[in-house]
Amino acid sequence: MTDRYETLVPRAREARRLPGTLTLTADTRLTGPDEATEPVRRLLAPLGLPLRPTGDGTEIAVGFDATITDPEGYRLHVGTAGVTLTAAGVDGLRHGVRTLRQLLPDAAWRAASAGTGWTLDCGEVADAPALPWRGGMLDVSRHFLPKREVLRYLDLFAMHGLNRLHLHLSDDQGWRVQSARYPKLTELGAHRPGSQVGRTRDGSHDHVPHGGYYTLDDLAEINAYATGLGVTVVPELDLPGHASALLAAYPEYGIGTHRVLTGWGISAGVVTPLPRTLAFLGEVLDELTEALPVPYVHLGGDECVLRDWAADAEVMGYLAEQGITEPVGGHGYFLRRLGEHLAAGGRRMVVWDEGFVTGGMLPDSIVTAWRGSSVGRRAAAAGYDVVRSPVYPTYLDYDQSDGPDEPLAIGGPLTLDDVAAFDPVPADWAAAEREHVLGVQFQAWSEYIPDARHLDYLVFPRACALADVAWTGAPATRLTERLAAHLPRLDAAGVEYRPLTGPRPWQAGGDGPRRRVPGAEMAKVREHLEQVSTSGDAEQSA
Ligand code: ACM
Repeated sequence: MTDRYETLVPRAREARRLPGTLTLTADTRLTGPDEATEPVRRLLAPLGLPLRPTGDGTEIAVGFDATITDPEGYRLHVGTAGVTLTAAGVDGLRHGVRTLRQLLPDAAWRAASAGTGWTLDCGEVADAPALPWRGGMLDVSRHFLPKREVLRYLDLFAMHGLNRLHLHLSDDQGWRVQSARYPKLTELGAHRPGSQVGRTRDGSHDHVPHGGYYTLDDLAEINAYATGLGVTVVPELDLPGHASALLAAYPEYGIGTHRVLTGWGISAGVVTPLPRTLAFLGEVLDELTEALPVPYVHLGGDECVLRDWAADAEVMGYLAEQGITEPVGGHGYFLRRLGEHLAAGGRRMVVWDEGFVTGGMLPDSIVTAWRGSSVGRRAAAAGYDVVRSPVYPTYLDYDQSDGPDEPLAIGGPLTLDDVAAFDPVPADWAAAEREHVLGVQFQAWSEYIPDARHLDYLVFPRACALADVAWTGAPATRLTERLAAHLPRLDAAGVEYRPLTGPRPWQAGGDGPRRRVPGAEMAKVREHLEQVSTSGDAEQSA
């Protein structure tokens, strides 16, 4: 029989099986202080057991232990008479319950079960994550992801010990957040008349309207659900570039005319760094953070085409008054001003690494380092916390093999093994640089991800590997063996992952619009990214 202590995903720091088995039944007690039993009871609800506080069956004893120093650490002991789970705090208890569910039969990952007896092997686990930021970015702008799917992804994040859900809520192709003060953001910005089909912007569009947005109540619900799972939502409004949808609604905050884009790529849609724009964005951010009282807000900062600023007398005149002569300095200025606005509300700004390159940082700003490895290292050396997110190997929108039946993707391949081999805290970085590696996250850009089924296909199982890397702080080991036991858990949870052998017939590209065509070759992407990330601010015009 499989030793399930050897199959945990992510891998636990220490886990070993002991002789004997334990069965949890309708008579199993759940004991401990209310602050500990209450979250554990909720997370174990799918087992369908009453888990009363008293009784004469086996016991699940939960509690807090001040000797566990890691805030997310936990200890789990499974003996023949019961389970003991202790942690420093509720986050650790949640991770302990996740591990307990992975030790149970796969049906423990179904939403509900009619079963009343759950048998597992005895054993013990002592565990804690190596990195505090373990996340994934979902691009809900290029293709909207309905709220129900975001909630399901929160369950899947928690299943893998991922604790940051970065929601990319705005881009050229759609604005996805309600604003009561600025209703045109969604009336005009949250939909488009069609979408680009295929890899080229040659005018081939599906002419099928696409859109959607989250109400502020939806976001509050998402945040409350995330909090109950130990996941922090990191909302992103991508600024000042990637702003065509915003500018389609409120052109007065940009230059020229704009529409919600139907094709993919980098656009010239950039909001201005002028005081009236900053005041408007401050209000939009305030509405967002009132609904979503989160510690981090991502302000984007990536891929800004600053041509329109350079040609605009009002923008350049205003920047000159601030002592700034080049548009690129205005990019940093813009991010700092909005970051200060967030800081006044007690929130930390997060930016893509262009924000670091243009000086758009406050001392506690966090860098999502996507353009290779060296720009992240430079940000860490400069004393900023860095979330390592290099295209290779964290962009899970790249395809998973170069097999002929893979569906259309932006490029690739970027394999499961590539993700598993990722070293998040490189040994050749100086100690001070390594200390600033806050964590790791995957990215799922959705140009070629029209729906949640395709998202599942691209994200899993590579996110399992990423979760392992993030939790252990090192490349994954024995992942294939562990996945052999873990994929059935994903089946029970209803995840339409890519089997290790390749797509199922209905996941393949076929010979229609989803047919694979050669995209960006990963080797070239890597080379390009390493070049731009060391070339100062020249990449601002990328
Ligand atoms: C990015 O891929 N533009 C962050």
